[in-house]
Amino acid sequence: MSEASGLRARLVDVLRRDGGLTRDDLTRAFATVPREVFLADGFHSQDAGLLRPGDDGFLAGVYRNDALVTKLADGRPVSSSSQPSLMALMIEELGVAAGMRILEIGAGTGYNAALMAALGADVTSVDVQPDVAAKAADALRTAGVTGARVLIGDGYLGEPSGAPYDRVMVTVGVTGISPHWLAQLVPGGLIVAPVAHAGNNPVLRVWTEPAARIAEPGWPPRTDIWAGGVCGAGFMAAGGALGATYPWAHPASVRAADWAALEEVETARWPQPLDGLRYHDLWFGIGAWDRRTTGAPYDGGTGCVLLDETRTGGAAILADGAILAAGAHAATYASDAGILVDRWADLGMPGIERWRAALVLGGDPAAPIYVPREWSLV
Ligand SMILES: C[S@@+](CC[C@H](N)C(=O)[O-])C[C@H]1O[C@@H](n2cnc3c(N)ncnc32)[C@H](O)[C@@H]1O
Repeated sequence: MSEASGLRARLVDVLRRDGGLTRDDLTRAFATVPREVFLADGFHSQDAGLLRPGDDGFLAGVYRNDALVTKLADGRPVSSSSQPSLMALMIEELGVAAGMRILEIGAGTGYNAALMAALGADVTSVDVQPDVAAKAADALRTAGVTGARVLIGDGYLGEPSGAPYDRVMVTVGVTGISPHWLAQLVPGGLIVAPVAHAGNNPVLRVWTEPAARIAEPGWPPRTDIWAGGVCGAGFMAAGGALGATYPWAHPASVRAADWAALEEVETARWPQPLDGLRYHDLWFGIGAWDRRTTGAPYDGGTGCVLLDETRTGGAAILADGAILAAGAHAATYASDAGILVDRWADLGMPGIERWRAALVLGGDPAAPIYVPREWSLV
């Protein structure tokens, strides 16, 4: 067995154990599609800088269950290969199967498209960056993948040439759902997308009511469109119409330098801090109830805060339920945060998958998107 296939087998074990990989055909895809071919120009490692094929630690890094940044612009990541466990979860959530036509928004390295093609799907993947799209197309060719093609374009427009699609897989953070995807989707088709919510990009499952898919003629289509939570996630944000904001959106995340020193106002509620997944459940719920919710760096990580109007103060909620606060209205913010945390706990700590929202048109009026309006528990 080659070093790469041994590492692939180990990654598959990790994904099956902790990562939500359950399907046998997807397991075979992860065990056979060579991720290193899609990282031929290397990836940016936090401790070792750019790691290229042949460098020490390259192959081991390729087969860790991590997102790998492949392109930076002004020091910020602008393209990557997503975390394998998240790809597994999104592919399973979408129910990608042989013979389906899939539209992927954000080709990145092309690896996710190759995995879906390995399941027998016919994949059309779009990326807005021409150099990224060209490299993904090369990698697919080198890997011998015939069921996926990569096109350059703004994903907002979808890709009419491959329509109609059975599924849309969005692998870049968006603030809403493009009406073009709906127009290119078969009735009853599904979309899985990381949609901005409270400073994160949790993955949502989006569907229309098949019978009332397009209730009125005209553009954009007036339709009943719904979203439900799938899992917490972070994704790089799309530019253009897919990243447009709207009046009731949550505030953007806070940078460490802007955030005042926090002081503890309420002590821990729970003896054991919530693990990462449960903390994201709490964060999602707080965001669903309160539009001031976003993310801020504190305590060595990024956490959930209620942000005040100055963007320098408010209240932060820790994983053990403790509340920290800062700013002129620290006491009010801490009290509001405490009430929200208790409400979430009293309701039995609902997970992200318990939330549902109707989507309405928002964003740039010249290029609208469907955005979540009001979340409720089901
Ligand atoms: C996280 S990467 C995609 C990961 C990829 N699916 C993979 O697993 O290799 C996000 C990609 O979305 C692309 N992107 C950003 N905005 C876009 C837009 N408006 N339309 C299409 N692609 C976009 C970026 O160029 C980037 O390559």
